[in-house]
Amino acid sequence: MLHQLKYQIENEDELDEIVAGLLKPEKTISPKYFYDERGSRLFEKITALPEYYPTETELGIMRDSIDEIVALVGEQASLIEFGSGSSLKTRILLEHLDKLAAYVPVDISEEQLLASATELRADFPNLEVLPVLADFTRPFDLPSPTVMPLKNLVYFPGSTIGNFTNEAALSLLQVMHQEAGAGGALLIGVDLQKDPKIIERAYNDSAGVTAEFNLNMLRHINREYGADFDLKHYSHSAEYNEDEGRIELRLIADTKQLINIGNERIHIGKNEGILTEYSHKYTLESFAEMAGKAGFEVKRVWVDQERLFSVQYLERS
Ligand code: TRP
Repeated sequence: MLHQLKYQIENEDELDEIVAGLLKPEKTISPKYFYDERGSRLFEKITALPEYYPTETELGIMRDSIDEIVALVGEQASLIEFGSGSSLKTRILLEHLDKLAAYVPVDISEEQLLASATELRADFPNLEVLPVLADFTRPFDLPSPTVMPLKNLVYFPGSTIGNFTNEAALSLLQVMHQEAGAGGALLIGVDLQKDPKIIERAYNDSAGVTAEFNLNMLRHINREYGADFDLKHYSHSAEYNEDEGRIELRLIADTKQLINIGNERIHIGKNEGILTEYSHKYTLESFAEMAGKAGFEVKRVWVDQERLFSVQYLERS
């Protein structure tokens, strides 16, 4: 009963948040509404698409650089992942880092967090796994591993940093700086600026999976928050904004639409878009500058041969 009540209240806050976004001058829905069960499955499919270069490329860089990463991190670190990782990238680290003090995944989704913790405990029986249920965009308390960590290594793969606005990304890096603590470090995946054609292709795949993923947000909102978006009148758009150095994902209405949601009726014009996500791409210089403002110094950068993607090791300066 209590649980149900809490759930309803949370749902109401989220409904208010969705409505507020749709009343903004540029209609916006937070990317967190991508991830219902179907959305999570579609996202997994995106990462395996031939056009979607980031996942494969980052994995290749991790495999090629793992010895150097291990040497930089040293022994007995506590690995703190922002997001709960059961991914191959996390596994490469867990398999190679020497005598880790602990693995600390931090996630706001209890289900994801516990599922990945259970999997990793089974596969790494000697590893202390200490999941933290928290919103990692705000400072949170770290657990104390049984073995005293010699340093904290914050891990943030997938160029998820790029899904934050510049302001929010800086604030997130400041939280990472705080969680890393004295002598701590950050290992982060950062997608790079390149020929916009390559970038646009990655978010406009020929199988239409990214389009399905984007549209699924409206289906999710109709189901969970009682809206009545007519899905057949919206289409996926992913354009590279060169001035801002980012991909912008939108859902575009093909005719005038009236949306009923909560107590609101919202008009959307023909060809008007709803912004659903940014994915910023950086130069090595632009990322180093932002990280510098958060108190990090870039110590080592690994890139693939085509310089599509980077994995970067930063220390507190
Ligand atoms: N952070 C990755 C990126 O921006 C993965 C990702 C997040 C993504 N949201 C997405 C990929 C939406 C495609 C569509 O590329």
